Amino acid sequence: MAKSLIEVLAGRRQTLPPIWLMRQAGRYLPEYRALRQKIGNFLDLCLDPKLAAEVTLQPIRRFGFDAAILFSDILVVPYALGQSVAFTPADGPRLDAIADVQSLRKLRKELDHERLAPVYETIARVKSQLPAHVTLLGFCGAPWTLATYMIAGAGTPDQIPAREFVYRAPQLFNELMDVLVEASASYLIRQFEAGADAVQIFDTWAGILPDDAFDRCCIEPSARIVAAVRARIPNAKFIGFPRGAGSRLKRYLDAVGVDAVGLDWTIDLAFARDEVQSRKPVQGNLDPVALLVGGNALDRAIDRIIDNFVAGPFIFNLGHGVLPGTPVAHVERLVARVRRSR
Ligand code: CP3
Repeated sequence: MAKSLIEVLAGRRQTLPPIWLMRQAGRYLPEYRALRQKIGNFLDLCLDPKLAAEVTLQPIRRFGFDAAILFSDILVVPYALGQSVAFTPADGPRLDAIADVQSLRKLRKELDHERLAPVYETIARVKSQLPAHVTLLGFCGAPWTLATYMIAGAGTPDQIPAREFVYRAPQLFNELMDVLVEASASYLIRQFEAGADAVQIFDTWAGILPDDAFDRCCIEPSARIVAAVRARIPNAKFIGFPRGAGSRLKRYLDAVGVDAVGLDWTIDLAFARDEVQSRKPVQGNLDPVALLVGGNALDRAIDRIIDNFVAGPFIFNLGHGVLPGTPVAHVERLVARVRRSR
């Protein structure tokens, strides 16, 4: 059976756009919270194939989305490079910050695939349980977004530690990016070999880069990853998500080689249709806050997006992840509305 999302990635518009949501598995789901309660450490959940597969499938069972996304986290890559990574319930991820040559040299040059074996096993498990029409998505964080957490040692509102690092230590920064490009490419190759149908590259922090650094820190590393994966897996399918890229999406698409691009909720819709969707299939871009609020505001926001993109290849999604307080009923309403759209 054809997978509608893969059809869109091949440039073929679907009468009913496929739909999935970033962070479709997570705290807004009661069944996730119930399972999460039993596991103290979030990383332990990501690295338990049975539980991670179960969590991956929860939103598929409940909503019948057209794609399942591997349940894991982008920070398993720094973990498999030997950096210490922990998730604290109160303030998110905590890593041993990379501040200087010494801490950079402590990183492995190559991924420890043993540490990631549970992730590959999760993919294989999900694959065996997924209906044939549902796409299985793997993912990784883009090198720049990984670097922001690896350098700061935590999430920050504006990523100043990493931005400072780029100016102060360009050589070291390039070394780090080289390691992350290699690591991400080999990680994605393994995900494809385990059964992923396509992968998404999350560059959540692309939007804060100054214009010249956007090419060096976002476009080039992502392009190198895509090329390295395709050298091994020629028909590997990619969705790029350079959040906040705005007008730079044109350059991104011309250079990176992804099959489709994820749009965040801030983009000018006419620009996205005329300048972005004219180049490649698009995915997006409902404001997660509209989904949280629900009601008529949600309906109007959904319709505006569908009307804008319906004429071309399009995947319905949010402009970023589902917010933890989102009522399940709003997600049901969204899926029903998108599915009766045409
Ligand atoms: O989308 C999915 O359903 C798949 C799972 C997924 C998670 N994280 C699960 C998660 C994916 C694709 C990610 C990607 C990720 N992780 C990104 C890129 C996309 C984005 O959201 O911007 C980033 C920057 C991270 C790093 C990360 N992980 C942070 C900053 C946090 C803390 C903030 C938060 O939401 O709690 C996490 C933790 C995390 N990753 C949770 C989940 C479900 C919550 C942890 C919990 O359940 O206790």
